[in-house]
Amino acid sequence: MISTTSYTSDYLVIEGGKPLKGKVNISGSKNASLPILIASILTKEPCQVENVPDLLDTRTTIELLRHLGAGVEFKEEKISIYPSSINLHTAPDEIVRRMRASVLVMGPLLARFGRAVVSMPGGCSIGVRSIDQHLKVFEKAGAHIRVRHGYIDMELKKVNPVEYTFEVITVTGTENALMLLSSCEKRSILRNIALEPEVMDLVEVLRKMGADICIEDRTAIIRGSKELRGFSHRVIPDRIEAGTFMVAGFLTGGDVLLEDVRVEHLGSVIEKLKEAGANIDILSLNSLRVRGGNGIKPLCISTAEYPGFPTDMQAQFMVLCCLADGVSEIRENIFENRFQHVAELQRMGADIHVRGRTAIIRGVKKLYGADVYSTDLRASASLVLAGLVAEGKTVVKDIYHLDRGYERLEEKFKGLGAVVERQPPREV
Ligand code: EPZ
Repeated sequence: MISTTSYTSDYLVIEGGKPLKGKVNISGSKNASLPILIASILTKEPCQVENVPDLLDTRTTIELLRHLGAGVEFKEEKISIYPSSINLHTAPDEIVRRMRASVLVMGPLLARFGRAVVSMPGGCSIGVRSIDQHLKVFEKAGAHIRVRHGYIDMELKKVNPVEYTFEVITVTGTENALMLLSSCEKRSILRNIALEPEVMDLVEVLRKMGADICIEDRTAIIRGSKELRGFSHRVIPDRIEAGTFMVAGFLTGGDVLLEDVRVEHLGSVIEKLKEAGANIDILSLNSLRVRGGNGIKPLCISTAEYPGFPTDMQAQFMVLCCLADGVSEIRENIFENRFQHVAELQRMGADIHVRGRTAIIRGVKKLYGADVYSTDLRASASLVLAGLVAEGKTVVKDIYHLDRGYERLEEKFKGLGAVVERQPPREV
């Protein structure tokens, strides 16, 4: 139940209407950092990871690694992990509940100990988010799996080679399977794998550790090693943070230069923004400029696995559609309940109708500032975007959701001229 009288966590106060102008540096990818940090469980040698964003989720991952016994140092976006002292194979409910990506320890723990006891990662606000595909791969590798008292308890005497076609394209399912099978010397084949850049960044790390991984279309052939090495790796830029700032620059009619991006990872986002009328200049492989100001054209968006349009950008683009000159349609194909930002945007004057997995958005002349609540990571980003362009003041509450996936977001927006302040929790 959301409290209406108190502000239970930090909140943002935004004064809308300022076009964003200037340069923003994009942080490292959250969704690449998490599996790469966890891959250190596969080795006893030290690992160095650079360009890791300082987020709630990366801090939770460090907490989890320390819980398992690893030594971890985190300073200036660089993390040094000393996994030789890892001596536990259990991920407790208290941590898994906070960060469902903790399930990524299952594959590495099975590889290292032949045992993994991980709390069931319940659903979350955007959907059931089953992990049946992860478990099917583990079973095929020879794991004996029991669910007891809310924990998944797995035992695996020896990692057998696997030949498996994923029934669903799953990012963390692919990552869990790749990490487990990187410890098996015999050849495994995974079909219908996820190809997100974050998965490919993990593949780079597993190759550095000594696994032979060949990927063609959506098929991976893996020949692992019993003695995986430590590694040093710089995490790729966060394409979703980049996409969020690109939308913000266009939406506010501004002129924003993004640096430290990987343009090749932004294809579908660039295409959709150009379709909406944004002026985009690609300045190099790692920088681009986004300008707005000549209206927003309506869009038809259907989320899909990479390289399709990313579900993690759906909420941000919905704000664009709210102010488009016409009717837009957004179809969310990846998660069954990823429209929670709709009710909050309606409070700001948006005209949106949801039918199942499809939202129909009729553009309105303007949005009006209001008190709104974050419900999940990317929904909270969309509410900040709406506040930046709305008339008047917007208060975005429960922004711990935001802090899970964006590093100092309000500071970066302030650097572009936005009027936004973070306030601590308070009783009304
Ligand atoms: C990853 O989640 C990302 N998280 C999500 O980012 C992202 O939205 C999602 O991929 C889709 O791109 C991390 O990488 C840490 P999936 P993941 O397994 O791996 C179903 C954010 O905003 N499915 O690819 O959990 C599932 O229910 C977060 O940063 C099964 O049915 O997503 C979903 O409908 C949110 N069985 C679909 O597949 C399974 O075993 C895609 O899920 C696994 C998944």
